[in-house]
Amino acid sequence: MNVSVIGIGRIGLPLAATIASRGHTVFGCDIDAPLVDMVNRGENPIPDEAGLGAVLGLVVAAGNLRATTDTVAAVSQSEAVLFAVAVDVEESGRADLRNLYAACESVARGMKPGTLCIFDTTLPVGTTRNDLAPRLEAGGLKLGTDFSVAFSPERLLMGRIIEDLTKYPKVVGGVDANGGDRAAAFYREVFGGEVLQLASAETAELSKLSEGAYRDLNIALANELAQVADVHGVDISEVIKAANSQPYCHLHVPGTGVGGHCIPVYPRFLMQGEGPSSLSALGRAVNDAMPGYAVQRVEQLVGDLTGKRVLILGLTFRPDVAVTPHTNAVDLLREFTARGAVVEGHDALLSEAGVRELGFEPAREPLSGYDVAVVHAKHRSYNSLNWKALAPLLVDARNALDRATVEAAGVRYLGIGRPVSPD
Ligand SMILES: NC(=O)c1ccc[n+]([C@@H]2O[C@H](COP(=O)([O-])OP(=O)(O)OC[C@H]3O[C@@H](n4cnc5c(N)ncnc54)[C@H](O)[C@@H]3O)[C@@H](O)[C@H]2O)c1
Repeated sequence: MNVSVIGIGRIGLPLAATIASRGHTVFGCDIDAPLVDMVNRGENPIPDEAGLGAVLGLVVAAGNLRATTDTVAAVSQSEAVLFAVAVDVEESGRADLRNLYAACESVARGMKPGTLCIFDTTLPVGTTRNDLAPRLEAGGLKLGTDFSVAFSPERLLMGRIIEDLTKYPKVVGGVDANGGDRAAAFYREVFGGEVLQLASAETAELSKLSEGAYRDLNIALANELAQVADVHGVDISEVIKAANSQPYCHLHVPGTGVGGHCIPVYPRFLMQGEGPSSLSALGRAVNDAMPGYAVQRVEQLVGDLTGKRVLILGLTFRPDVAVTPHTNAVDLLREFTARGAVVEGHDALLSEAGVRELGFEPAREPLSGYDVAVVHAKHRSYNSLNWKALAPLLVDARNALDRATVEAAGVRYLGIGRPVSPD
């Protein structure tokens, strides 16, 4: 089978490479010409994505995956077209679908009768049917008669996408009468795993938003409980461990907010849609307030932060992946700076230019002599840091450090919802 994957970024490239590794011919379509050239040389543009380099080298060498900027030509030779173009939120909080619209326009121009189109990008409910499918018809083919459309969300964790692609059931929902059946058959063939065929594209869209909204709200609850723990001087880690020992409780970990272009974004898709969304909005507000709360706690301990030297370590949104959209490190920078602190940033996975792009003054090695150090994303390479040299106070922004190790090094530890070590 010939397949086009539109958008070969963080999701689309592993998706394209995995399908190609099953013996299909895949065109990886993207508007980013240097990225296309790199892929065609068999070079891996996402080195922190486990297993991608190996599979990419194989499928490019075998001629099963070819990247191209000519989406129209690729689509005209394909039986299936998968959309993995990113959708983010605008300032206003509404989904920014412009890249996806442009992709639809190219696909509509190239699509031949019989094509199956599947949208993998997470979308507000109703977008596939009401907004995107009509754009595909603009090329002259008729939905349901000449081509089919389905929605099938990606359910992956960055860093282990290749593994996750086939690990969880593939959820699909169709727009036209055949869309769901055809998408389910497609994924059974290319992945061979379990497929959950839902009643409609809207059902599948809402299922994906539900996963994200659940996690955002769960983290918001953990964050609120962490603040209650601070009031009473108890350790939220102990509380959550005890609460979760009962099988109906699944509290997540509190921290200084939620980053990345998934979890903090999907509740906003619910908030812009029809139907109630007051809980989604409340969860967002609680999580967005956490960087300010954490810095306030530091201020209570240290006193006036004016002129204090602060180091923020790990600026990506999560440990061990070089991805920065909606990272809360930037919110911590804003909150410390607003209180007069002098902040530097360090990230083992980002270049100096990447650190500057986020608004940070890059910290110089050796990392030492700060008043406060904050571990935001605890990359594996930070395990060997000399905590003692960094600063007398270490803030564990995601409750990810081993408190005993930090204290054994003679450093005061402050977690989220965890009592500070004695002075
Ligand atoms: N990253 C994740 O962990 C994750 C998890 C689940 C779902 N998703 C979904 O996947 C979507 C894609 O995320 P990503 O991380 O791969 O984004 P990304 O920014 O890494 O990749 C998107 C790619 O699309 C390309 N593109 C933009 N406009 C195009 C066009 N008109 N034609 C062809 N290519 C075009 C870009 O150049 C880029 O390479 C997200 O919006 C999200 O809904 C992401």
